[in-house]
Amino acid sequence: MNDQNDIPTIGGKSFTPVAINCAAKAGEWIKTKLGSHTSLSLKYSAQDLVTEVDKGAEMMIRNLVQTHFPHHSFLGEEGVQPGPEASDRALQSVKDAEYLWVVDPIDGTTNFVHGFPFFSVSIALAHKGEVIVGVVYDPMRDELFVAEKGKGAYVRGRRMEASGEQTLRDSLLATGFPADPNYALPMNMKGLQALVPQVRNIRSSGSAALHMAYVAAGRLSGFWEYGLNSWDLAAGSLLVTESGGRVTDSKGNPYNLGVRNVAASNGHIHDAFVDELMKAEGSS
Ligand code: IPD
Ligand code: CA
Ligand code: CA
Repeated sequence: MNDQNDIPTIGGKSFTPVAINCAAKAGEWIKTKLGSHTSLSLKYSAQDLVTEVDKGAEMMIRNLVQTHFPHHSFLGEEGVQPGPEASDRALQSVKDAEYLWVVDPIDGTTNFVHGFPFFSVSIALAHKGEVIVGVVYDPMRDELFVAEKGKGAYVRGRRMEASGEQTLRDSLLATGFPADPNYALPMNMKGLQALVPQVRNIRSSGSAALHMAYVAAGRLSGFWEYGLNSWDLAAGSLLVTESGGRVTDSKGNPYNLGVRNVAASNGHIHDAFVDELMKAEGSS
């Protein structure tokens, strides 16, 4: 994928191979646990699940990252208290770190629990708040999506390109149904109601990170969801932009690690997509 000399390094160690190794190891382990998790608990709401496999996978990734990069900061979903306020506080406390790993050990825990084979490991490395490496791994399909800032994005060793649809009418979109019933879910429903009649169709497969990877791979024209966290989006945001797509918040402002309401697309449909979301929000 890269000339060895081009891989971003610190102290002679390369970031991307470590991110790939972490995602692959965790993903393989998660796959062996499919259908045999032993503990299931609720976090922020009845829709927000966690198992011992989420926690074990995060610990595995954290240990590997710390072995290679002991001075880097680490933000993982399972190390943060549930709920949007705690997530915001956790991000605020580390977002200016020189190097920050942002990790969702299983994105799509509900699918994992039900044996629905669509979940992923999402690992990003940010340098002073900007994502420079993004890896999303789907262990069920053994698909590894990798991006490096300025160097493109790849799946199965092939360079990815976002899709070519020029209009909403020709677009296949995806969204998610957020775990926060108070703000994010009602907002998402408004967007859904506005967009369904205007597009070819809409999917909701249950892993935001994998939906972002599919936008990057040209399999989806766009994805939006309200109320996500940095670990759902960081890796996917780089996959999309390095594939020629666009990532903003739902009002069209540029992506940063603090964005919770995301719109990602192939770029061509972006303005029309965001216009519809803003109209549905009542903010245009
Ligand atoms: C969830 C997934 C899901 C999205 C939820 C997320 P989790 O992450 O990305 O697709 O709709 O909003 O919370 O809890 O499985 O890591
Ligand atoms: Ca997630
Ligand atoms: Ca998760």
